[in-house]
Amino acid sequence: MRTQVAIVGAGPAGLTLSQLLHRQGIESVVLEARDRDYLEHRVRAGVLEHGTVETLCEAGVGDRLAGQGMRHGGTELRFDRRRHRIDFEELTGRGITVYGQQEVVKDLIAARLADVRFEVADVELRDLDTDRPRIRYRQHGEQHELTADLVVGADGFHGVCRGYLPSPTATERGYDYAWLGILAEAPPSSAELIYARHDRGFALHSMRSPTVTRMYLQVPAGTDPADWPDDRVWAELHTRLATDDGFALAEGPLLDKGVTEMRSVVISPLQHGRLFLAGDAAHIVPPTGAKGLNLAVADVRLLSYAIGEFYATGGQDSLARYTEDALRRVWLATHFSWWMTTMLHVDPAAGEFGHRLARAQLDYATSSTAMATALAENYTGLPYDRDWFYR
Ligand code: FAD
Ligand code: DHB
Repeated sequence: MRTQVAIVGAGPAGLTLSQLLHRQGIESVVLEARDRDYLEHRVRAGVLEHGTVETLCEAGVGDRLAGQGMRHGGTELRFDRRRHRIDFEELTGRGITVYGQQEVVKDLIAARLADVRFEVADVELRDLDTDRPRIRYRQHGEQHELTADLVVGADGFHGVCRGYLPSPTATERGYDYAWLGILAEAPPSSAELIYARHDRGFALHSMRSPTVTRMYLQVPAGTDPADWPDDRVWAELHTRLATDDGFALAEGPLLDKGVTEMRSVVISPLQHGRLFLAGDAAHIVPPTGAKGLNLAVADVRLLSYAIGEFYATGGQDSLARYTEDALRRVWLATHFSWWMTTMLHVDPAAGEFGHRLARAQLDYATSSTAMATALAENYTGLPYDRDWFYR
């Protein structure tokens, strides 16, 4: 079997790339380890930057997103039992859209169905340093081989493609805390997201629809969700989100509960011969600030232009620049995610000094228009314009 671009991984990165290439008349095949149903029900991120929405709409997969996505013009920082709104629209002229990652994936799978191979196993990359790279894999017990011009590793943080870089560097830091995430059948208790810092730890109130709330609690790293029966989750959410003006949190049956560990990792380079890494395969950020999915889309936007140039002119300049161009944005998002994370979580190891610094950051972000604008600019998404990053 032969294609132009072989993509490993049908997450947001791989599927969006396949769709962007399709719109340029470039063929691709996407190899995915899981089945369709699993991908369409995996509960993960929910905040789409302004540019991510634009990219998906321009790629022709924005119809449901435009109808069901919830547009927010701001967010709330909550601490000391008080609410502080950061007005994205006023500060940047932009907003964000709340739309579940699994809905993005559903829309993309519907568009790319003919080119996705589900339930593949034993993916092995070959001849990456030639102009005819190959992928060997098994599907439903049968061995296959796919020859391509280019291979994109979009197989997430636990994928295999990163292992084919001969000598990558991984720049990383861990966190001693994690997020316990819940999905509840309850109407959101606030029109916008709430990022709350409390002495007992961080809490986040988000949503998926007018009837479904998504919330997160800071818990110690290594927490077993079984230690958090529903009544304990609700009690903790009530405590951490309480305000002096009587915030009322609506409860409902829990539909999902899980723990996400927090880590920041950036791999470099993102290229080896004809292999390019994108999304979580190349970098992960702690989720505070909601950058993971958005970075995956930004990576493949860059790649799709570079691949378009490759097919239009044979030129490889943009492909050769991909690592440098992508990592500019990745490091800015890594900084933003670190900043939001340390400002909003309680880190026992950081002691009183760390606690005071976090509080000072919150005071600054809610008092200074300059700092609030920096938060809003990062949260709604930095521009894609390459020149912006090299000013
Ligand atoms: P993925 O979505 O991981 O997709 C990679 C795909 O590759 C998967 O479908 C996988 O099955 C497939 N794959 C893996 N190995 C192979 C292989 N060997 N062969 C074939 N296919 C393979 N971000 C936020 O902003 N907010 C959040 O709340 C948030 N919550 C998260 C919760 C969890 C549990 C996780 C894991 C991530 C979360 N993220 C969150 C991060 C966000 O979901 C990711 O940044 C985003 O999914 C990245 O997209 P991707 O396409 O690069 O990778
Ligand atoms: C959601 C996830 C995030 O990481 C975040 O910062 C905000 C919202 C969510 O799942 O809705």
